[in-house]
Amino acid sequence: MSRNTLAPAEQVRISAVTHGGLGVARLASGKVVFVRGGLPGDVAEIEALRGRKRHAEARLIQLVEESPLRVPPRCAHQSVCGGCPLQGLSYPAQLSEKESMVRDAWRRIGGLEPAVVDAILPARDTFFYRNKMEFGFSDLAWHPQGRESGELEPFGLGQHVPGVHSKVFNLLECHLQSAFTAPILAEVRRFVEEEGGGRDAVWHWRGHTGYWRFVVIREGRGTGERMVNLVTSTAGDARADALAARLVERFGTEISTIVNTVQGGPGQVATGWTDRVLHGDGLLREKLGGLLFELAPQAFFQTHTEQAERLFALVAEHLGPVEGDLLDLYCGTGAIALLMAGQARRIHGVELVPEAVDSARRNARLNGLEERVSFHCGDVLELLKAGELPRPEAVVVDPPRAGLHPKVVAQLLDLAPRRLVYVSCNPATQARDAALLAEGGYTPTRLSPVDMFPHTFHVEAVATFEKR
Ligand SMILES: C[S@@+](CC[C@H](N)C(=O)[O-])C[C@H]1O[C@@H](n2cnc3c(N)ncnc32)[C@H](O)[C@@H]1O
Repeated sequence: MSRNTLAPAEQVRISAVTHGGLGVARLASGKVVFVRGGLPGDVAEIEALRGRKRHAEARLIQLVEESPLRVPPRCAHQSVCGGCPLQGLSYPAQLSEKESMVRDAWRRIGGLEPAVVDAILPARDTFFYRNKMEFGFSDLAWHPQGRESGELEPFGLGQHVPGVHSKVFNLLECHLQSAFTAPILAEVRRFVEEEGGGRDAVWHWRGHTGYWRFVVIREGRGTGERMVNLVTSTAGDARADALAARLVERFGTEISTIVNTVQGGPGQVATGWTDRVLHGDGLLREKLGGLLFELAPQAFFQTHTEQAERLFALVAEHLGPVEGDLLDLYCGTGAIALLMAGQARRIHGVELVPEAVDSARRNARLNGLEERVSFHCGDVLELLKAGELPRPEAVVVDPPRAGLHPKVVAQLLDLAPRRLVYVSCNPATQARDAALLAEGGYTPTRLSPVDMFPHTFHVEAVATFEKR
């Protein structure tokens, strides 16, 4: 037995997947183990590693019996890429797992069972659906066959290897964003190798040095526009201009705009401040639900446009007609507020990121909705505490993964809207907040899981709460 091992190797049947994409199984001792690479229905030989009292992680030694729910993955990188942990599971089985994740979280964490729980809304496009992808540079390239495999690549540009965060494998294909992604990355890689400084110039994980950090590619699915964002550690370097010129020369009008974002901090984040527009106007246009959106490089926008349209139609259905004012909290570039404009007297969006608020205001003007919708820049809690927002009849919240701070829930309870619609990308935090809302006098009346991201473990859910 290795030092970290909890028990001898054991055969288990994987019964489900977690929200993190790990297979779930139970040891003969009753302890729950999480198995990377295990899918529901697999029988696997595993070795449980040390963990908490009631559950632990386990290493998959070998698959003894493949699940009948398995399908051959499409992507050549499936075994090293953490992007699509469920690609080897049939789509109906993915949907059923995701629906269970939402129901289980509400039951287990929230202790709640809404009166109506809809079947999960599937995605129509299950491949090539993402309108935005981030690809990282690392001085440490991952070599799938090991370092003895022949010629070693000088650096990595692509996705992280799960569990080995310093290493990036060179991505040659991706089935989540359009087929246009791979040639752009190949050209960037060639440029950096030949003219951009090579391995010395890419981000060094340990020393936090190096110029090239990320390439972010965004597409307007409804407009055909494309934005390439070169994220570098410092500003004003001519290498970014030279790469932009090369991309324009190679791809012409297929790339609408190229920008340079600067992120000098040690954290692995592909956002920062936009230094310069290197080509085009620095904006990406997208169509959704009959409206036009103009997006600045740092502005949040739902990453599966077609499914976001269906998600927002569902939000509108949950919301129903609102005679008074509506608050759209955590509004990003204003998609919900603008799409619901015909459904309430007046709508007030609140968003922390100034660039997103600028985009939201521009989008309101662009669609002739500035009389009905206004946007406020700031922290939701601070703005609610300041009492500067009008008392609404209904509220929509769409917070980041961490969900609502308990103080925000308390402010919402004080505000006492008749109805609250909670859009979430994390069933655990939604269920936690749902319990607080229920305690505070709100009944969850409908819960609708939505699959925004096929082949990943992510699941969205829309919930309605009515004031008792
Ligand atoms: C999940 S996104 C939702 C965006 C929008 N509803 C949409 O669908 O396009 C969450 C948004 O909340 C914003 N945000 C995060 N923390 C915030 C805070 N404390 N106050 C206001 N906005 C915040 C983020 O910048 C992001 O735009």
